[in-house]
Amino acid sequence: MRLDKLLAHMGYGSRKEVKSFIRKGYVLLNGEAVFDDDIKVDEENDEIVILNQNVEYQKQIYILLHKPKGYVSATFDFKEPTVLDLIEETQKGLFPVGRLDKDTTGLLLITNDGKLAHELLSPKHHVAKEYELTFTGEFKESFIKQFQEGIVLEDGYICKPAEFILLESNKGRITIYEGKFHQIKRMMQALGMEVTSLKRIAFGRLRLPLDLKDGEYRFLTKDEIELLKA
Ligand code: URA
Repeated sequence: MRLDKLLAHMGYGSRKEVKSFIRKGYVLLNGEAVFDDDIKVDEENDEIVILNQNVEYQKQIYILLHKPKGYVSATFDFKEPTVLDLIEETQKGLFPVGRLDKDTTGLLLITNDGKLAHELLSPKHHVAKEYELTFTGEFKESFIKQFQEGIVLEDGYICKPAEFILLESNKGRITIYEGKFHQIKRMMQALGMEVTSLKRIAFGRLRLPLDLKDGEYRFLTKDEIELLKA
């Protein structure tokens, strides 16, 4: 693989940026500076160092995005900006794992690993998704039990058991183990309440890092990838 392609793929910058790093001598190949951006490297065996960091090649890419409001969870849209517009990664084939509504914020995984995405989204695996929400309407004590037993949506669908924790009179945390369209908004509506803000704070064993601001993203660490696959 070309050196500039590999570095861009691994998220060290756009193709243009990594070319400039190479020309400035910031990249070592097997211990020696290289200045030729189209040099071919053996991604499995060559030792590549950029700005004192060892580059460990990974074919699969896993990005944790703190989705802001106003972006749709799609790879392409005619009218709206998509979550991929927030990612500078040049690698093709990236897509969001599942969907958050345009006005929902929080943890969204972006990857090119179709197999893992399929497993995380499969109803068989009951992956937990935890959200923080604010709402209008009166929350009654008895609703907690209804969440545990399965809320019935307006179309008759009986939700899988969920957990609701009331934090303040109009603020709570909810964990669901499935992902129906507008599920949380519809669960709350079924109980006479209206969601006014919704943020995903955990997906499987991954939690939204507190220091990752709206619109920011970072690559998952090896440990986080293992955690997600476990
Ligand atoms: N439930 C919703 O209603 N919206 C989301 O974006 C996610 C879960």
